[in-house]
Formats: sequence, structure tokens, C-alpha cells
Amino acid sequence: MVFTKIIFPFIVDNFYLFLPLLLPLVYLRIFFNKSELQSDKERSKKTTKFAQKEKEAGNRTQNEDADDEVEEVDDDDELEDPAGPAVEDVDFISYEFTQYTEEEMILRSQQFFQEMNKRRTIRVFSDKPVPRQVIENIIRTAGTAPSGAHTEPWTYVVVSDPKLKVSIQDIVEREEMINYTQRMGIKWTNDLKFLKTDWNKPYLTEAPYLVLLFKQVHGYTNTGQKKVHYYNEISCSISAGLFLAAVQQAGLVTLTSTPLNCGPALRSLLNRPENEKLLMLLPVGYPGPNSTVPALSRKSLQEFSSFH
Ligand SMILES: Cc1cc2nc3c(=O)[nH]c(=O)nc-3n(C[C@H](O)[C@H](O)[C@H](O)COP(=O)(O)O)c2cc1C
Repeated sequence: MVFTKIIFPFIVDNFYLFLPLLLPLVYLRIFFNKSELQSDKERSKKTTKFAQKEKEAGNRTQNEDADDEVEEVDDDDELEDPAGPAVEDVDFISYEFTQYTEEEMILRSQQFFQEMNKRRTIRVFSDKPVPRQVIENIIRTAGTAPSGAHTEPWTYVVVSDPKLKVSIQDIVEREEMINYTQRMGIKWTNDLKFLKTDWNKPYLTEAPYLVLLFKQVHGYTNTGQKKVHYYNEISCSISAGLFLAAVQQAGLVTLTSTPLNCGPALRSLLNRPENEKLLMLLPVGYPGPNSTVPALSRKSLQEFSSFH
């Protein structure tokens, strides 16, 4: 009542008296809006520059990228061909699903776990030959892995030639000696002590097959343009997991190795293109007659999972 009858008419009649108060308020609002926008822009610029620098340094994995803000897409970029096939080239077909009973599922999952639980990393190999077809099937299995935008960014290079194996051993042992004595440092070498590994890698000439997994950091389209390989390291790592499972299922053994600093020399020895970077070196074969493994225990289900 007081407001509508007295205060409001007073404000309307004398609004010019309030103008000096309003102007600074409007000015302040504009100023804060501007500085907010500015700091947003600077933050975004910094993130992009940081990601770019990390990429240029070549020490950033796709995995680390996944947690960052996504870089702005520059729409002025020349339109590239799609990473995968064109939308009009892909039909959708019905999925052939095999339905098992609950009992069958429990049994199958149990049996698969029991088989995989027997898998161990083997570091002493027999030179007993393995049929090439087995290796082909194992790699076929690895090739069934899902991949970012179905780019299938993996190359499996299989070496059985004895001379080439000696060259690989020379490269790896030379680098591993520097790794153990200089690059890895006290903490890393201490953490590895229980495995009793060193820079000698006899398995590189003992195992009938050395399988080198290269991640394709990008690909090429039919017209020769660079094709983005989304999450290529994650995709290749999933593929490697299937490879390990297939080796186990076939009744063979392998060693998941990531020889530090050997990538460029092995890439050049095996004539691989510059878009391929070595991810893993996996000897495959039978365990050697005196092969031992460290008695390691695995975490229980409760320790590494949580059900809600
Ligand atoms: C990413 C990765 C890299 C590895 N690199 C090496 C390696 O360079 N040399 C080696 O002897 N073992 C290597 N290993 C094997 C591990 O030491 C082994 O998996 C671990 O000790 C557990 O033993 P298990 O595989 O028998 O269960 C690697 C394993 C992984 C997953």
C-alpha cells in the first residue's frame, strides 16, 4: 500500500535523481561480464596450447588426452574424407545372437575365467616350431577388437626369420642395457627386482615367432589425406588383450613386453611407415623346458571391483 501509493509515484516523478546511481551499476555489470569472457577465452587458449605442446613433444598418450577438455574444432579446416566408410555405403543388418541358458552362461564364464587364470608371462621359450596357421588365427582374433570409429589402427608384424630375430635382439638388448643402467633409475629398477629380469633377452631368438604390435597414430584415406585414428592406443591395447587370450586358448605362451626406446630402430628395421609406432613386442611359442614363473597372487574380485 505504502509502496504503490507513495514510494512508487515518488520514484517515477523523480527518476532523474536515481540516474547517477544506475550508471555505475550498469558500468560495473559490463566490466565483470567482459573480464569473465576474457578469462574463459584465455583458459581455453591455454588448454589448447598445452595439449598441442604435449602432442608436439610426442610424450602424451591418447589415454591422457581423454581426461582433458576437448579441443575446439576449427570449422575453417579443409573438409577431410570421413575416417570410416561413407554413411550411404553402410547397410544395417540383423545381428546374429546366440542365446544360452543362465546355467550355460555361468558354466561358460567360469570355464573361460579358469583358462585365463592359467595365463602367465613366460620369459624362457622353447624353439619348438608352431604352425603358422595358429599365429594367423591368433592375429585374426586380435583383429576382432573394437576400435575408435572402426579405424582398426593396428599392424601386427610377425617375424620368424632367424637373422631378423638376431637383429631385433641386438637392438633390444643394446637399448635395454641403457634402460636398466641409465634411463629407468633406481626406483623403477627396484620395483622390477622381484621379476629378476635384466637386459638379456634370449627369448627374442628362442621363440619361434616374434609378434610386434604397431599402433597407427593416424591412417590415410583413399585420396592420400591423413585420417584421424581416434583412441588408437586404447584400441590397440584392447586388441592386444584379445591376442593374449587367443594365445592362451591356443595352448601357447607369450610375454607382454614394451621395449623402451626401441621403437624407431625396430620400425626402421622392419620397414614400417612413419605413422606406425611400436606398442608391444610379443614372442609366441611354447615355454622352455626349465621355464619358471614368479609365484604371484592376483587381487580378489572384491579388491578390484565394486557392485552397486
Ligand atoms: C604394459 C605391460 C608392459 C610389460 N612390459 C614388460 C617387459 O618389458 N618385460 C617383461 O619381462 N615383462 C613385461 N610385462 C609383464 C609383467 O611383468 C607381468 O604381466 C606381471 O609381472 C604379471 O605377471 P603375469 O603376466 O604372469 O600375470 C609387461 C606387462 C604389461 C601389461
